[in-house]
Amino acid sequence: MWDAPGAAPGLAGGVGQKVGVNGAQARQVSAQGISRNLSSYGDDGFSRYLRNAFLSAAGYGREESSRPVVGITDLRSDYNPCHRQMGELLDNVKRGVLAAGGLPLVFPTASLGETFLNPTSMLYRNMLAMETEELVRAQPMDAVVMLGGCDKTVPAQLMAAAVCSVPVVIDVVGPMLTNTWRGQRLGACTDCRRFWAQYRAGDLTELEIDDVEGSLATTSGTCMVMGTASTMASLAEALGMMLPGGATPPSPTGERLRHGTATGRRAVELARVPLLPREVLTRPAFENALRVLSALGGSTNAVVHLLAVARRAGVRLELDDFDRVSRETPLLVDLKPSGDGYMEDFHRAGGVPVLLKVLEPVLDTSHVGVSGVPLGEQLDRIAAPASWQRVIRAWDDPVGNPGALAVLRGSLAPEGAVIKVSAASQNLLVHEGPAMVFDSPEEAARRLDDPDLDVTPDHVLVLRNAGPVGSGMPEAGSLPMPRKLAALGVRDMVRISDARMSGTSYGTVVLHCCPESAVGGPMALVRDGDRVRLDVPARRLDLLVDEEELASRSAAWQPPELPARGWRRLHAQTVLPASQGADLDFL
Ligand code: FES
Repeated sequence: MWDAPGAAPGLAGGVGQKVGVNGAQARQVSAQGISRNLSSYGDDGFSRYLRNAFLSAAGYGREESSRPVVGITDLRSDYNPCHRQMGELLDNVKRGVLAAGGLPLVFPTASLGETFLNPTSMLYRNMLAMETEELVRAQPMDAVVMLGGCDKTVPAQLMAAAVCSVPVVIDVVGPMLTNTWRGQRLGACTDCRRFWAQYRAGDLTELEIDDVEGSLATTSGTCMVMGTASTMASLAEALGMMLPGGATPPSPTGERLRHGTATGRRAVELARVPLLPREVLTRPAFENALRVLSALGGSTNAVVHLLAVARRAGVRLELDDFDRVSRETPLLVDLKPSGDGYMEDFHRAGGVPVLLKVLEPVLDTSHVGVSGVPLGEQLDRIAAPASWQRVIRAWDDPVGNPGALAVLRGSLAPEGAVIKVSAASQNLLVHEGPAMVFDSPEEAARRLDDPDLDVTPDHVLVLRNAGPVGSGMPEAGSLPMPRKLAALGVRDMVRISDARMSGTSYGTVVLHCCPESAVGGPMALVRDGDRVRLDVPARRLDLLVDEEELASRSAAWQPPELPARGWRRLHAQTVLPASQGADLDFL
């Protein structure tokens, strides 16, 4: 507990104050605030003296530097348009920290703009998690506000938080607002894919797709459907790592800024009376989060991310937990890509707190998150979904049946694969067809554009070498329809891969097949024309090739070369399977 709230005795300290007797007293303070994590010069008094000298150079007097320190992450980058309003949010968090008597100190970390990273932002999620963890450990702070937003940032921050020994509060930049194009409401990025599919099918001209391009993402903020960013923000709130109501206020609104101010204030309280992430990230917290994930029809990427966070938090969470909870929980939120609405609609309907109210009978309401108030007490103040809206549904009036997410096993994925049933075509959930195999997303893109490709709607498109080891697990699993079939009106086919897909995507797409092909899993052994059978109701995914033939193919298989150097090599050498969260094995 913080034992010297506010200014230390005799250290009112203002700009230009000299260090005298009182300064000597200040150098005796215990290892909290700015005296935490001292740089090592072999003399702690000297280290504190030097630190204060440099803080003075930054304009901080002794009154300020004796306050509880709240570190705040800054993920601004010109390479991340989703975070372009983060500066304003940072200012509000700082305002909250100052008003509560703390000292806010902002520090930058990697930004991870989803659409600007090659081959995929997922390759850098663990790097951001490690960077954030190390900077919290190395720098002086009594609590941390982690501000994120774009897809991989919140997962990385939750992973870092799970191993932090100071309180952490997550907050996000919030979703974008929607726009319209020719009278149609649209937003990033389910509609990005819908319009692109129309363009590939020849239903939109070059000029029209250019026009759509300028209309999809019109404000600051994250993709405004229930994609990965929205899913992970909602799950951070459900886990209790974000103050209630923080997942949904749109980025350009005052409500978003006010939530930031409240977050800053609360961080100072937590600095004084700590509640540590490992006390928040408990088994009940994950059970509650799985309920919310299922009710949202959230992104399949959340499976990998939650597994990684739980592993770091020391909570035993497995793929089968996702399937179990999903089977018991109906789809209750009507948002794209599983439904029709956008995040601003979810927000107006009450957001995550109202969804939690619907789920209350199946939640652990004794859980206490960073607000410090047990979930049950919070929900006593929340009303059931209002009758004027249809975005958040009552349990007995769902958008879809239980089972929005399914975990499959079988000879093609003995260690598991996932499918987002709520975004798949019902008529393809049981399907058998010949495989058409692609060794990379680039090969798939080239061949699927070939008007002479010998492909039928019955084919099962198989993409490999796209798992965590193979290529960092890009969102390439939602392969585009072959141009030839798209022109005939085919909008969905069974697609199978060891890749991920964007949370904004839809289709009958089986993902995260484990073990992945780059380590010699069954995906590596599939050949064109092999029969593949998908049976979602039976939770099966099978390669219908006899074992003797597969053993002979396995004996001839050669592993791909590792990346030559740097982070990519370290990642490929140490990354865990998707079924364990794809964290690095030494973290
Ligand atoms: Fe940043 Fe979608 S690209 S959240």
